[in-house]
Amino acid sequence: MPFHSSFTQLPTDLPAALVLADTAASAAWTREDDSVLTEQERNYAKEFDAEAAATWTAGRVVLRHVLGAHLDRDPAGIEIRLDSAGKPRVDDCEFSVSRARRLVLVAVSEDPVGIDVEAVPEHAVAAEAMRLLHTKERAELEALPADDLAAGFVRVWARTEAFLKALSTGLARDPGMDYIGTGEQPDSPHPDVDIHDLDEGIPAGYTAAIAFNR
Ligand SMILES: CC(C)(COP(=O)(O)OP(=O)(O)OC[C@H]1O[C@@H](n2cnc3c(N)ncnc32)[C@H](O)[C@@H]1OP(=O)(O)O)[C@@H](O)C(=O)NCCC(=O)NCCS
Repeated sequence: MPFHSSFTQLPTDLPAALVLADTAASAAWTREDDSVLTEQERNYAKEFDAEAAATWTAGRVVLRHVLGAHLDRDPAGIEIRLDSAGKPRVDDCEFSVSRARRLVLVAVSEDPVGIDVEAVPEHAVAAEAMRLLHTKERAELEALPADDLAAGFVRVWARTEAFLKALSTGLARDPGMDYIGTGEQPDSPHPDVDIHDLDEGIPAGYTAAIAFNR
């Protein structure tokens, strides 16, 4: 079944379907129409303020529609459970979801997968947050011209989050523990995991990465 017409399937040679939804534009309906969510999901969203609730709802609505199209099933009927690390799972496929501002990016794959999209932050935010990274990554970022720091930081941060999501640990594993690097190609700290930057179709001002745990 094709993905919802308000979403964009990104071109890729990687073994995953990549679906981007702009919930500030064509996919704005996902912030309001929560009819595919379970009662439990609606109650969970109610715990946040209105903006955060709409953002979380949009992410889950997009995810349900993407999984529904991929599995050829009713989006509302798919059972999404959380594993012990908080990673959402369904029985019949591997997937990962990330939100940045009003963008939602979903990957569906045969292999365990992690995806991350991030808005490029202000310089000061990047300079603070880079302390969380591996010491060698920090040194690489410190060697960059100041104007390049935010873009360099967010590139390695997106790679790191994609990697940690593919491992299923999320940030329960210290993001400073593994060296992935700021260079042209990400290093993989784990023999079973490959990490890739995503460029095609990612809007200006955002950075995205994906990792597969094969
Ligand atoms: C998962 C995590 C990396 C998300 O990063 P983020 O940039 O804030 O948010 P993103 O939108 O990119 O990703 C959120 C999605 O990641 C997924 N996710 C959550 N835990 C995950 C895990 N352990 N492994 C893989 N994916 C996970 C979920 O789909 C979540 O979306 P949902 O809230 O709709 O279910 C991070 O929040 C995390 O590790 N949380 C677990 C709790 C934890 O250990 N916290 C310690 C904080 S120091």
